[in-house]
Amino acid sequence: MHLADRLGRPLADLRLSVTDRCNLRCSYCMPEEEYRWLPRSDILRFEELTTLVRAFVGCGVEDVRLTGGEPLLRRDIEQLVTMLRGIDGLRDLSMTTNGLLFAPMAARLKAAGLDRITISLDTLQPERFRTLARREGLPQVLASLEAAQAHGFRHTKIDTVLVRGINDDEIVPLFEHARSVGAEIRYIEYMDVGGATHWSLDKVVPASEILAVLERTYGPARRVEVESRAPAKRWLLADGTVFGIVASTTQPFCGTCDRSRVTADGMWFHCLYATHGTNLRALLRAGATNEELRDALRHGWRAREDRGAQLRLEAQAQAERGTLAERATLRDNPHLEMHTRGG
Ligand code: 5AD
Ligand code: SF4
Repeated sequence: MHLADRLGRPLADLRLSVTDRCNLRCSYCMPEEEYRWLPRSDILRFEELTTLVRAFVGCGVEDVRLTGGEPLLRRDIEQLVTMLRGIDGLRDLSMTTNGLLFAPMAARLKAAGLDRITISLDTLQPERFRTLARREGLPQVLASLEAAQAHGFRHTKIDTVLVRGINDDEIVPLFEHARSVGAEIRYIEYMDVGGATHWSLDKVVPASEILAVLERTYGPARRVEVESRAPAKRWLLADGTVFGIVASTTQPFCGTCDRSRVTADGMWFHCLYATHGTNLRALLRAGATNEELRDALRHGWRAREDRGAQLRLEAQAQAERGTLAERATLRDNPHLEMHTRGG
């Protein structure tokens, strides 16, 4: 039995950010020189995070994904994995990482009970990686993909954000690389989310174009018709390879969106584009019981009517679609940042 929001969408998937810090500076996410970080004392402790997740699972959440910033920057993160794994009713526990620190931790994370991993990879060219992420690290990311396979992680995914003129010539090489390491690649359209201060519509590589490039190279692809709430549309090639395309910008999937996000300081957001959240940290630290937390979650979810990506698309039809939030706005409210709410 799922809790439904105003548009009938279930509360089923939670993205839990464990830190707003990151050791990369991807141009589509953190293009600025300086950031205002969440105050350290506001960052939820593992016990608090576990209490929160238990309440979410009590309201029907089945899948939890740990994100950041970069989640592996959070010290002793495998302890949190163990604690969350102990929650009855949690079906799938996964993590999205940039892959810099994953390889040396793969064994520990597997042993702690992490089910699946998604690693971001936007280029195979070291020089380009440096430009795109403004840090070194491509060898570590590639080693992490190997490590995921070597340590028995299954259904590993690669997330690739395509940006026109930056990496749109790597659709095929990245596909080949994903296949060679047994991972499923998902191409993600560049989104005008908070933090993407350099976004413009002409930098978006539309899903239709991504598909056309792949079909030209590998022959016709057909839709994988599995019952899935995942935002990626999955495609199957004649040789059996599956890939995904997340068309958040050109074909929003708000109508079936079952996910919400909690930031590392316990703010609950119902949508990537939401400007207001619920302060769950305040509830937690005021000593709310599990039942009280669940009440707050039920109340919040029932009122949910967000469909941020769709509204952005509609705005685009009306006028020029520009960046969502200006730099000054983001400085005043770091909760709007993608690296704070988790990719
Ligand atoms: N557009 C699309 N995806 C983004 N991410 C961050 N910023 C953007 C953006 N502007 C996602 C990417 C990355 C994850 C951490 O967050 O998928 O891999
Ligand atoms: Fe890049 Fe992810 Fe870090 Fe953003 S949070 S800078 S997308 S690695």
